[in-house]
Amino acid sequence: MASVRNARVVFSEIPQGVPDPQRSVKYDESELIDLDNVPLNGGFLAKAVALSIDPYMRNRMREAHIVQRFSPFLLGKPLVNYGVGRVIRSEHPGIKPGDYFHRKDLSFQEYSVIPDLSDVYVLTNEQKLPWTLYCGVAGMAGQTAWMGWHEYAAPKPGDVCFVTAAGGPVGSFVIQLAKAAGCKVVASAGSADKLQFARECGADVVFNYKTASTADVLQQEGPVNIYWDNVGGTSLDAALAHSANSARFIECGMISTINGESPHVKNLGMIVGNDLKVFGFIVGTLLPRYEDAFYGEVPRLVAEGKIRYREDVKKGLQYVGQAIYEVQTGGNKGKSVISLE
Ligand SMILES: NC(=O)c1ccc[n+]([C@@H]2O[C@H](COP(=O)([O-])OP(=O)(O)OC[C@H]3O[C@@H](n4cnc5c(N)ncnc54)[C@H](OP(=O)(O)O)[C@@H]3O)[C@@H](O)[C@H]2O)c1
Repeated sequence: MASVRNARVVFSEIPQGVPDPQRSVKYDESELIDLDNVPLNGGFLAKAVALSIDPYMRNRMREAHIVQRFSPFLLGKPLVNYGVGRVIRSEHPGIKPGDYFHRKDLSFQEYSVIPDLSDVYVLTNEQKLPWTLYCGVAGMAGQTAWMGWHEYAAPKPGDVCFVTAAGGPVGSFVIQLAKAAGCKVVASAGSADKLQFARECGADVVFNYKTASTADVLQQEGPVNIYWDNVGGTSLDAALAHSANSARFIECGMISTINGESPHVKNLGMIVGNDLKVFGFIVGTLLPRYEDAFYGEVPRLVAEGKIRYREDVKKGLQYVGQAIYEVQTGGNKGKSVISLE
């Protein structure tokens, strides 16, 4: 077979503040690949099927010398992130043509050669879910909510659980886990549409953090026994001020500070004063213990209609820059995914 196009999205400029969709990344169709003859060197050739767009990708758009948990994107090279791929050719005994898999650092290009099975999970998909869901409710975002909740929440019926970024894939799943555990759920988000979805997921009290004071709402509805923190900043500060004794603070994300804003947290003394249990976590740390249980349970519950979710799917790599921008600014209406099929 002649060589075919291998379109990709490369990191093109380190952003100051919110990434510019036109400047920070570039869609490029100049590369070709010979699918029959590209050397595999013991690995396998895969076609990207769905690529996840996540808030933390902003952290990877940084100067290469700055050391953080996740490696930086390299200027001129394709982005990488969680995604689903389909195997085309394989020299690896653990995976065969036709298999679908989930991988942590899947390259943002149509085809790539993957050297081995590290960070690869072969998906059986007995429920025949759309593959994009393995980037969302049945993928890393769902894993974050499900694993973080099981590990840290220790819920009791009647506990007040406050969830931020409640209209997104992590927050909306947490709402459902908290309701199933008998909690009263207070949820905040930045649009009427997301608040409506938070309600559909079971939240008892919803409010727009842009137009209502989080501190006033928590004063009325708290004190907070479980705070699922997706945003940091003033929401975290208000939750600290209105925390119950021995409350669990699950520090999942700090998107309000990810683009360089100052956190403005003044009530850290409550961690001591209220005997708070503060759990920062990265889902990858919990993965080895929970991964098989997650895939055994969550896709089935999704197929049975027992977990609500929303997806914001864009078809084509050319929309990656726009999707990254929307996730940073609240424009996404559900789990942001790029579909390539
Ligand atoms: N610890 C981990 O391993 C892990 C794994 C996955 C995700 N996370 C974190 O979990 C959080 C939610 O992730 P997700 O995938 O569910 O994201 P998401 O909801 O799809 O997107 C992020 C949302 O954050 C909200 N936001 C943006 N700027 C904000 C601000 N200044 N203040 C308050 N909210 C703001 C926006 O919604 P609004 O319209 O509501 O403002 C935006 O849609 C993120 O912080 C992410 O980094 C952590």
